[in-house]
This record gives sequence, structure tokens and C-alpha cells, in this order.
Amino acid sequence: MKKIIELITEELAEAFVQAGYDKEYARVTLSNRPDLCEYQCNGAMAGAKRYKKAPIMIAGDVAAKLGESRCFEEVVAANPGFINLKLKKEYVAEYLNQMGAEEKLGLEESEEPQTIVVDYGGPNVAKPLHVGHLRSAIIGESVKRIARRMGHQVLGDIHLGDWGYQMGLIITELRLRKPDLPYFEEDYQGEYPAEAPFTIGELEEIYPTASGKAKEDEEYRKEALQATYLLQNGHKGYRAVWQHIMNVSVADLKKNYERLNVHFNLWKGEADAQAYIPDMLEWMKRDGYAHIDEGALVIDVQEETDTKEIPPCMIQKSDGASLYGTTDLATLIQREQDYKPDRIIYVADKRQDLHFLQVFRAAKKTGIVPEETSLKFLGFGTMNGKDGKPFKTREGGVMRLENLIGEIEDEMYKKIAENRTVAREEAQETAKIVGMSAIKYGDLSNQASKDYVFDVDRFTSFEGNTGPYILYTIVRIKSILNKYQAGGKTLEGAQIEGAHNDSEKALMLEAVKYNEVVETAFEELAPHKICAFIYDLANAFNRFYHETKILAQEDAAKQKSYIALLVLTKRILEDCIDMLGFEAPERM
Ligand code: ARG
Repeated sequence: MKKIIELITEELAEAFVQAGYDKEYARVTLSNRPDLCEYQCNGAMAGAKRYKKAPIMIAGDVAAKLGESRCFEEVVAANPGFINLKLKKEYVAEYLNQMGAEEKLGLEESEEPQTIVVDYGGPNVAKPLHVGHLRSAIIGESVKRIARRMGHQVLGDIHLGDWGYQMGLIITELRLRKPDLPYFEEDYQGEYPAEAPFTIGELEEIYPTASGKAKEDEEYRKEALQATYLLQNGHKGYRAVWQHIMNVSVADLKKNYERLNVHFNLWKGEADAQAYIPDMLEWMKRDGYAHIDEGALVIDVQEETDTKEIPPCMIQKSDGASLYGTTDLATLIQREQDYKPDRIIYVADKRQDLHFLQVFRAAKKTGIVPEETSLKFLGFGTMNGKDGKPFKTREGGVMRLENLIGEIEDEMYKKIAENRTVAREEAQETAKIVGMSAIKYGDLSNQASKDYVFDVDRFTSFEGNTGPYILYTIVRIKSILNKYQAGGKTLEGAQIEGAHNDSEKALMLEAVKYNEVVETAFEELAPHKICAFIYDLANAFNRFYHETKILAQEDAAKQKSYIALLVLTKRILEDCIDMLGFEAPERM
């Protein structure tokens, strides 16, 4: 469906032309004086010079042509030259009914669906998943869902950090503890055991222990570096240990992401890119893209228009080791080969922006990625505690994801159990669902690039701009619809009539924005625009609810129209929270 603002603009364009003016002046926006009108057009002011006429005269001419319009109930030319517009109630209702008749609520899918890879999550294997990775998972999942809703073919790739120094640390510590394991035996010829020599619990203890030791003990650090080197260069036993680490951690990661309702299509990682590196380095040298700079192999990425210095992208250290940039470039080769994406979106901490700028430029310059492919970095800010510093546990450590989710769920459970009579189990289930909305909405309602304060009290509140408030609104609608049906009436065939009161019209005017909001959220990769929209929609609904007799309405036709509006509002809200990555319970 066309966006309502497009339809109104077309209507104005016709009136401008009929009145003898150019249609380019017919731009319509939402009103910034909601007390006076719903939409407005400022084109008369823009056209004054060209037509050598007072803007108010132009506005008046256009308004006169709009008298018969099927869209408008009121058109006012206001000084100095605004055209103030109010939509006909029936027109709005008709638009909403059309939305309701479409499975996708009037959202027009992209005419040229793209293949899009969203690189998000990015946890580092064997290191505990912490709040730093939470944002990437939440934002990336939402971006992925929005892009899918727009009709694109989207692949979510977790891009595991599974090839680094942490692996060498774990191998070193394991060898120290269990030197007799076959992985550490020179010239071992047999099969390695199928079972991992550690549990996830042990693994989580081994990594911090080893990392602590390496910081104190230079010998130990060197050993870990050597182990990393051997692993990366094909040491059989170490590869087998690595595979165990992967199996054990990935199973644990899957559990965690499952709980967050975050789902990846691809569980690839840095390790998968390694196979592409030797060739890549070879042709970069051969074709003169890379050169040696102080022993390291680098690609220059400075461009003439840069106002500041952009250091070269380093792809091999002097000791032969590859780097973060090397892996990301090699991953691009692999993605190009496997999926030929039209667009790749990376969701990571905004402090990585220079890294991605270097990688993107190097990829384009060397032709790893065709010029027309869009490489986009969506950098996010830091999640801070109430003290304004990066979020920590009460004890001062980095909070683990599980604990964070647990804390929110407990808080939610308290609030739900407080004034409810539902069974304990149901309250716990509900606390999980609502808790997820608190975490995700708390994050997504901020523009991604901004830092935000993780405030458990605020995020779990049923009032204000929060996930639980949105869910509360959906549950309220569900409850009304259930009661309506319990009275033996059906939702079938309900059509929305022209608004019967102001708050109903206000709700309708929010609902019609749906397709425009989703499109914009996709274009700008901005889930927070969806949050802002559903907050407005929920507020408009609640105002309508408080001012309107719905279930007690005696006029059956009127009631049925209210019900149709409720059904549609609920669908829109549910559709939007799905794009944000959470869902609503039946009751709360
Ligand atoms: N593992 C990285 C980290 O923890 C994030 C990976 C982001 N994606 C990428 N292709 N570099 O910071």
C-alpha cells in the first residue's frame, strides 16, 4: 500500500497543478501544531518568490481546489501561507481497513529483494558471554528481522571469535593440568577421544585462570602465544582440543542466545576464514595492493578527501601472524564466494569504527568486494550502570549475561506476583517473557550509537517508555477482545468506521503511520524508530481506552467498529515487537 503521506501529497499535487502551480511544492509533513491540524503543507511559502505572490494567496488558491477532496475534512490557508489539513474520518478508516485486509498490514516489500548478511553477536568462544555482547545480539537481531519484513533475503551470521589467543591460553593451561592427555603427545598416531577433557564449567574457570597467569608470568604468556601459533599452523593435537572447546562452548552459546530469542542462520567464525588467508596475502602482494611497512604487511586506505589520517589496514604482522583485519577481509572473500551479498551490516561496538573503515576500504580497493556492494558498520554505544560508568556487577566485575537476565526476571516476577493471583508457575513464565521485553526495549529504544544507562527499575516499570508498558497495552487489548468473544460475539467481519471521538481519531492517525515507520527503520537501520512509534501508538490506545466505553457500548455497530480498531492496533503492536525480537504473554 502507498504510505498515507504519499496519498495526501498526491492529492495536494493535483490541487497545486489545478491552481496553476508546480506540483513540486506539494510536500506534506505531519503537523507541528497538532492543536490546529493533522498534516500541513508549507509549499506556498516556498513558491512565493517564483510566482511573485503572497504565500497566503497561493495557499488560498490551493485550498479552494481541495474543497471537494475525498481526503480532507478541513483545509485551511493560514498566515503567512500554511496549508493546514485535517483528514476525513471515513478516509482514515478506509485506509485502516485496507491495512487490516493485508497480511503485511500494508507494508510494501522491496521491489528488488537483496541478499543481506547481518554480522552480529560476535561472542568470543570460551570467554564468558557478557553484557558487551548483549547489545550486538539485540540490535543485530532486530535489524535482521526488520530487513526480512521488508522482503529481503537475510542471513544472520554470529561470526564467532574462535581463533585467537584465548585458545592458546586454554591449551596451555590444560596441558599444564593434564599433561598425559594424548593431544599433547608428540607423534601420537591414534584417534583422539570423542569426549571433551573439560565441561563448560571447567572451561569457564580455565580461561580466566590462564589469562590471569599470562599477565603475571612472561614465560607462561610466551607458551600461550606459541600454542596459539601452533594451533593456527595445523598442530593436530591442538586442533583436536580446539574442536572440543568449540563443541562445548557453542552448545553453551546456543543455549544463551536461545534464551534471548536470538537466532543465527550461520554459526561461522574467524576460524572459517583462515583457509582463505594464504592466497589472499599472496595476491595482495603480487598485485601490489599491499606493501611492507616496518616489517608488517599493510594496505594503504587513506583517501584524498580525508580530513584526518586513516592508518593503513594491517594484514600481517612481522612475525607472520594475521590480525583482526586479515580475518575480516578473508571472511569477505568467503561471503562473496558463498552468498554474493548485496549488503553486509556489521553490528559491533562503535569503538571499532576505524577497524571497519579500514577493512571496508581495503575490501573495495582490492576488489574483494564489488564496488556496488554496500558495507555498513552499525556501531553501538556503551551500556552504562546508573553511575554512568560501563555496566558492572555489584561486586564490580563485568556482569554475565545469564545473571543479568536472571536479575531482570526476578525483578519482573516480584512486580507480577505483587498484585496478581495467578499461579506461581504462570507468573514465572510471564516474568521471563516480560523481562525479555524490558531488556530489549530498554536497549532498542535508544539510538544505537548512543550510550545508555541500564536501569533495572526503569526498564521493568509498567509505566513510561518501557517494554513492559507496551506488553501491558497488548495484554489489555487481548483481554477486551476475549471478553467480547466470551459474550458470544465474533471478531469476524468487523470493519472500522469513521472515528466517533477525538481520542479514537488520534489512535487511528498513529496506526496509519505503520508502513512508513517500518520503511524508515529499515533505511536508517534504526529500531528505535519502531520503539518510538509503538510508544505513541500505545499511548494513543490507552487514552482512547480510558475515554471510551467499549465493552459497555450499547450501539452494536459502533462497538464492532471499536473492536475492529482494537484488532488492528494489536496486530500492529505485535508485528512491531516481533521486529524488536520479543513477544507478549496472554496475561500479566
Ligand atoms: N568478536 C568481536 C568482539 O568481541 C566482534 C566481532 C564483530 N564482527 C566482525 N566481523 N569483526 O569484539
